[in-house]
Amino acid sequence: SQRRKEEVSRHQQILDTAHAHYQRGLKASPAAISYLKQRGLSGSIAARFGLGWTGGDRRGLAAVFPHYEDPLLVESGLVIEAEDGRRYDRFRERIMFPIRNTRGNIIGFGGRLIAKGEPKYLNSPETAVFSKGRELYGLWEARAAVRTEGCVLVVEGYMDVVGLAQQGIEHAVATLGTATTPEHVQKLLRLSNKVVFSFDGDKAGRRAAWRALQVCLPLLRDDASIRFLFLPQEHDPDSYVREFGAEAFRASLAEADPLSRFMLDELASHHAMDEAEGRAACVHEAKPLLALMPAGTLRMQIEREFARLVKLTPEELAGMLEAAPETPP
Ligand code: GTP
Ligand code: MN
Ligand code: MN
Ligand code: MN
Ligand code: MN
Repeated sequence: SQRRKEEVSRHQQILDTAHAHYQRGLKASPAAISYLKQRGLSGSIAARFGLGWTGGDRRGLAAVFPHYEDPLLVESGLVIEAEDGRRYDRFRERIMFPIRNTRGNIIGFGGRLIAKGEPKYLNSPETAVFSKGRELYGLWEARAAVRTEGCVLVVEGYMDVVGLAQQGIEHAVATLGTATTPEHVQKLLRLSNKVVFSFDGDKAGRRAAWRALQVCLPLLRDDASIRFLFLPQEHDPDSYVREFGAEAFRASLAEADPLSRFMLDELASHHAMDEAEGRAACVHEAKPLLALMPAGTLRMQIEREFARLVKLTPEELAGMLEAAPETPP
């Protein structure tokens, strides 16, 4: 409707005005500039990603929104209304990362503290135009590189996207501090039929990868390739590329595990595969996962390799997968 259109465009104006304010804030803040420099980021990368800075003023945005009491400012997520009705800026003393939709319009922000404190990152709340389970940071900025590289890289954080781009690796996007969703994977596979997930090299990263794999399973296609890149324990993509360089990162990208290998290795790692009991438990765990996959050659290939892993013939495994779930006596 006309009214809805006007509201969306008012929201857009608010986000754009705030963004311009944050960008001016960065230019005027030696501390924020020196933080970005110390993280290895140049002025041109900061400009390319539209990075900004917001200072400590409780009502900093009043400088650009004279009508600070406008309810749309609260709806946009930029202003918080306290219990007592008083209003103040959501984002203070943070590096600001604008988040854009596929058309390039700003739909929200992520903000990172440069001083020690909690929470380290703060995102815009869910609004009419912003849903964390659907959006990917950097998608708009990465779109050309995704085409030329024929691949999209998925990382955990804002700084990973920007830090990789600083080193010339421009086809990365990040989830917004949430787990990977089916909507994310659908979006990624529409963009490119090669997707590489590269989570942090810590336990949390490994868990996030295993969850992402399970989200991918129902969406597998024979013409798509999904891979997982595991970095050394203490690294994330940003720290890795800074320490070892783009060539080393690209070399490890080329050796990322295909989904099938990660899936089988991970399943095997959960069980004592040198014992009959362990292999049986492994089949038990794998059954619902294999069932998630759509019929196709890839599923057949994975089932064949899995059968070998658990020392069953493909026919025995197929029989197990068809059998009704075991019921206790
Ligand atoms: P940086 O390199 O400075 O980004 O720190 P880091 O590598 O330790 O960040 P981390 O791996 O912990 O975070 C990855 C992503 O998770 C961030 O880019 C955020 O999107 C999200 N995240 C991390 N910490 C928080 C938090 O405190 N609150 C929220 N909402 N999200 C967070
Ligand atoms: Mn961390
Ligand atoms: Mn981490
Ligand atoms: Mn990091
Ligand atoms: Mn990290």
